[in-house]
Amino acid sequence: MFSDTLRQRLLVFSIGLIAMTTSYIASADTIDDKVDALLAKMTLPEKIGQMNQYNGFWDVTGPAPSEGDAEKKFSHLTQGLVGSVLNVSGVEQVRELQKLVVEESRLGIPLMFGLDVIHGHKTLSPIPLAEAASWDLQAIEKSARVAAIESSARGINWTFAPMVDISRDARWGRVMEGAGEDTYLGQKVGVARVKGFQGEDLSKPDTIAATAKHLAGYGFSEAGRDYNLVDVGNYTLYNVILPPFKSAVDAGVKTVMNSFNTLNGVPATASKLLQRDILKTQWGFDGFIISDWASTKEMIYHGYSEDLKHAAEQAVKAGSDMDMESYAYVNHLQELVQEGKVKESHIDDAVRRILKVKFELGLFDDPYRYVDDARETEQVYNAAHSQAALDMAKRSIVMLKNEQNLLPLSKEQKKIAVIGPLAEDKNSPLGSWRIGSDDNTAVSLLEGLANYTHDISYQKGADFILGEQSFIKELVVNESDTSGFPDAVALAKESDVVIMMLGEHGFHSGEARSRTKLDFPGVQQELLEAVYAVNKNIVLLVQTGRPLVLDWAEKHIPSILVTWQLGSQSGNAIAKVLFGDYNPSGKLPMSFPRSVGQVPLYYNVMQTGRPVTEGTVFWSHYIDERNDALFPFGHGLSYSHFTYSNLRIDDSNKKAIKVTVDVTNDSAMDGEEVVQLYIRDRVASLTRPIKELKGFEKISLKAAETESVQFTLTDDELGFYQLDGNFVVENGDFDVMVGTSSMSGIAGEFRL
Ligand code: GLC
Repeated sequence: MFSDTLRQRLLVFSIGLIAMTTSYIASADTIDDKVDALLAKMTLPEKIGQMNQYNGFWDVTGPAPSEGDAEKKFSHLTQGLVGSVLNVSGVEQVRELQKLVVEESRLGIPLMFGLDVIHGHKTLSPIPLAEAASWDLQAIEKSARVAAIESSARGINWTFAPMVDISRDARWGRVMEGAGEDTYLGQKVGVARVKGFQGEDLSKPDTIAATAKHLAGYGFSEAGRDYNLVDVGNYTLYNVILPPFKSAVDAGVKTVMNSFNTLNGVPATASKLLQRDILKTQWGFDGFIISDWASTKEMIYHGYSEDLKHAAEQAVKAGSDMDMESYAYVNHLQELVQEGKVKESHIDDAVRRILKVKFELGLFDDPYRYVDDARETEQVYNAAHSQAALDMAKRSIVMLKNEQNLLPLSKEQKKIAVIGPLAEDKNSPLGSWRIGSDDNTAVSLLEGLANYTHDISYQKGADFILGEQSFIKELVVNESDTSGFPDAVALAKESDVVIMMLGEHGFHSGEARSRTKLDFPGVQQELLEAVYAVNKNIVLLVQTGRPLVLDWAEKHIPSILVTWQLGSQSGNAIAKVLFGDYNPSGKLPMSFPRSVGQVPLYYNVMQTGRPVTEGTVFWSHYIDERNDALFPFGHGLSYSHFTYSNLRIDDSNKKAIKVTVDVTNDSAMDGEEVVQLYIRDRVASLTRPIKELKGFEKISLKAAETESVQFTLTDDELGFYQLDGNFVVENGDFDVMVGTSSMSGIAGEFRL
């Protein structure tokens, strides 16, 4: 396009100009001053460019852009019309694009490189729902730390995580990406992840900006159908949905992503209430908001925007600062400002927020801070990260049932049959959010077991998925071919114990993977029953991205563990638990239903005016199913056994009520227990749930050891939000329960 000489002159001129600009910025002392100094030099198109995010040129995580966009997008890079790219990773690719922008655009403002580092980057930890099942905040923070180290070594400086959407609906495919149904657990897990990603100093090369997403209500998509409308009252919005976002903001999260759904008729991307009024004004959020993939453009389909220009106007006015893959801002904001429809002050506010994060990331000190070939080689898939992934995975496994003490298996156990297509699957344990990692890199169950014993025989029993498996294609499930059953049954018949791994494929959950059934897809249930008919010593491993209906298994199968999708070290973690080298300690972060008809299902329900009234029909119930979960929130067994005693409550100080309980490991095996505290506000100005988690502590107890565990209840735990968003604490009587799950513990009470 340009002659070499002219190009060289342009390059020298640009470098000179950048040096001058940079030095000018350098002379300002605070980051805010530097931002203002830079902003003052920017043209309107350059400002708008910072608000524009393009997908990279290699991977997609949403509807792919139309043809011919790539060339235009590349030219925008050198014109300073792009503030960030997503789905570009790897030092070589990042360096190429960063160099283009820094050395060829007029002001050389560095790009941010965003990616969905949801549960690891190359080395994958368990899916977020599985990590939440560990209730181990230290392990969760460390897992995010490892993800930040590995992804930043490949040039990434921004992750679109943690997802802090609360959801009570297992039909929604993205429950795998959050921390489950409970707000309090969701707050704690979200904060741990933000801290892990961002570390203590965002300018360090191994820390990355985090994103609290999706603001707001996405987990309440009607009927569990992804991208569907959300219609909730202010009670649920303020008391269930928003607190995890507030906690993330208080923990210093640098960005927030809005969401695809409408909230009570308004697309979240255009919600001034959520973005300007609550997040930025009431909560004082000083980072920036990124839209979700093309969520600005999708307001046209919602019937909220006339066209892309109208959508751009609505979104920027509502406080959506950066536009991901809608091309709305880059194509229409300048015109809207010139027409007086959008104030330039809105643009300046958005750009200030974006530039501030870039300064905090250290990108102006060194645009290539995250670009280091040696670090990439040293950090990717390294042994320490695999060890962390293994540790996180074993802590995430939940043992639902273990009758006849079939588990742990003896290391001398002979004649072990392994049955089920997922047992050899090295892909599904990676879950659906594995972008950036590599397919078939998980340790399969078979491989993990082989590290313990070779007295194992395997039969798949049936194909699970037919044809190609990919994030952007629907799965085709084998619904009829049972030709492998006879061999599986024959093996089971001659074996002493059968380990069956059944459940979901990695792409059965995740974005755009809502289900109307919560059973084992395909012919797996038939396979389970066929094997059971000849051998009842079955250990069922449920590999899944969501709660499933396990009603038949619960009645027939002696040992059941939820192994979720445990990431790169899946098989090794499961083997450790099966052979007793790790005593399972996980607890359910979501209720497992008896029937899909119960969904949305959650433990912290309201009592209603018709609570259980045995012997009558006129109470809040189903005539064909129980109300309660098959396996409740907070449930999880151990090879140990824990008893609770001596609950004492000191409510002398109404601002710090002390609740103490003794926990004893009355077994012969050291173990860990998640001690959970639930409260109930009996009477209040708004009805309150029959119980709510307001404290938990994961403790280790040696065999026969007793430990006193103390919780402190303050206004934060005892109060609630009124319909206008005000937080109140009301006097009255409270019930307390401390125990091993939401359904089992010892009770007490106090008066506020
Ligand atoms: C996706 C998801 C969002 C993700 C973004 C970028 O559609 O909704 O969570 O961060 O697009 O991949």
